[in-house]
Amino acid sequence: MLPFFIFYTMEGDTCFNESEVGLLKEDVTAVILAAGEGKRMKSGLPKVLHSFLGRTLLEHVMAAALPVSRNQVVVIGRGGEAVMAALGEGVTYAWQEKQLGTGHAVMQALPHLPAEGTVLILYGDVPLLDTATLKKLLAHHHSGGFAATVLTARVPDATGYGRIVRSESGSLLNIVEEKDATAAEKDIGEINTGTYAFAAAALREALGGIGQDNTQGEYYLTDCIGVLVKKGYNVAAHLMPDYRLALGVNDRKQLAEAAALMRDRINSGLMAEGVTINDPSSTYVDVTVSVGGDTVLLPNTILSGRTTVGERCTIGPFTEISDSRLGNGVVVRHSVVSGSVLEDGVTVGPFAHLRPETRLGRHVKVGDFVEIKKSEVGEGSKIPHLSYVGDAVVGKSVNLGAGAIVVNYDGRKKYETQIDDGAFVGCNSNLVAPLHIGKGAFVAAGSTVTRDVPPGALALSRAEQVNKPNLARRFLKKEPGEK
Ligand code: UD1
Ligand code: CA
Repeated sequence: MLPFFIFYTMEGDTCFNESEVGLLKEDVTAVILAAGEGKRMKSGLPKVLHSFLGRTLLEHVMAAALPVSRNQVVVIGRGGEAVMAALGEGVTYAWQEKQLGTGHAVMQALPHLPAEGTVLILYGDVPLLDTATLKKLLAHHHSGGFAATVLTARVPDATGYGRIVRSESGSLLNIVEEKDATAAEKDIGEINTGTYAFAAAALREALGGIGQDNTQGEYYLTDCIGVLVKKGYNVAAHLMPDYRLALGVNDRKQLAEAAALMRDRINSGLMAEGVTINDPSSTYVDVTVSVGGDTVLLPNTILSGRTTVGERCTIGPFTEISDSRLGNGVVVRHSVVSGSVLEDGVTVGPFAHLRPETRLGRHVKVGDFVEIKKSEVGEGSKIPHLSYVGDAVVGKSVNLGAGAIVVNYDGRKKYETQIDDGAFVGCNSNLVAPLHIGKGAFVAAGSTVTRDVPPGALALSRAEQVNKPNLARRFLKKEPGEK
């Protein structure tokens, strides 16, 4: 699972506009915490590597932060090797050997942080935060010249979150974790989203002032706020309007909630760009997918990976397309397509399976119960029913009749088949590879073809028919008309 998108944007400047470059000049380094075990997930996989809609939780966070911070330090620990394997090189890692809390995690990143400038801290399990919110947080932080600014939200159910404690006049005093909160503090509806902008020097100073004197015996990053307030620094809380983006994923239920919200966000974006989605609640499009205007996505469609869909296509219902490129005006119904290219005007399904390295030329028709693997099919060719085509190069305007099968495998090796332009393969034929069927050749129905067929030739390879008069009754239980 390579974060292709992240690498691409890290290497290229294409995703930065003028104002973002302005922010970058402010020297923002992001620290993303991803060292926790995620006990509540009850999983063998580190929590931050759970994924939805094309990215892991951690990649969602990194992608949101990237436009405001190209310098990203990821703190890893539990399952750190797996996290590194998933993100690859090109990311700065800081190891937290023992998970002694979020404050302790940030301490491990200190050697990678600048002496001055802004440090943006994010938790790897808050995947819905968007770039716009982070920009507003940074703008608020910079405008007031604060030592620290916490991103907060007012939630209907604050259970599990740290509460934001304000003075009577409304200024930020500190953050109290649920497990350490008094009953009155638990009533507070404003929560810590786990996202902060710090002045680098103030962060170092605050981390030096926190301890482990709390219910969990951990170094809480949240305590940095109270430490700074006591020292007389100016700190601020930036309240975000849409609390749903602050959802922290601690268990599988929250993972599903976050996935549903991300699905709605992606689908709304597509609809705004002119894509029809009949049932957004059953349509899943990865963040890495692009869909052209006037395309219709019917219920239960899943588009994933590096898939691009052109304009005026109809996809679904009940269709799964991954890592594939579809041109304009393509129709795919009730089918599974992976690693394939479908040029303009192709129609697929219902119930077809296109496996990797399949390439269908313009206006190719692939019908029901057809499987194609690692094959090229030329413009206008038809494979309408019940076929298997593997390791083949099929020319233009070829017709494969119902049940025509490419026999590409002898149990040990795979062999290739070439069927040239305009050839006609009759129903229920076996084309035993390696095989070359010439241009305009005709294979009679029911043939098992083991030798090349020259251009224009008729290949006929089946037992001759014998009719035995009146013998049918021997095989019939009853005479015709008998009761
Ligand atoms: C934390 C906050 C809480 C906030 C909530 C928002 C603290 C003490 N609490 O609680 O105020 O409302 O997030 O979602 O910060 N991690 C490490 N190393 C550690 C511990 C955690 O890297 O030693 C990482 C985890 O991988 C995770 C993130 O920090 O990505 C948050 O940790 P988690 O245990 O989920 O904190 P919460 O209990 O959710
Ligand atoms: Ca959490």
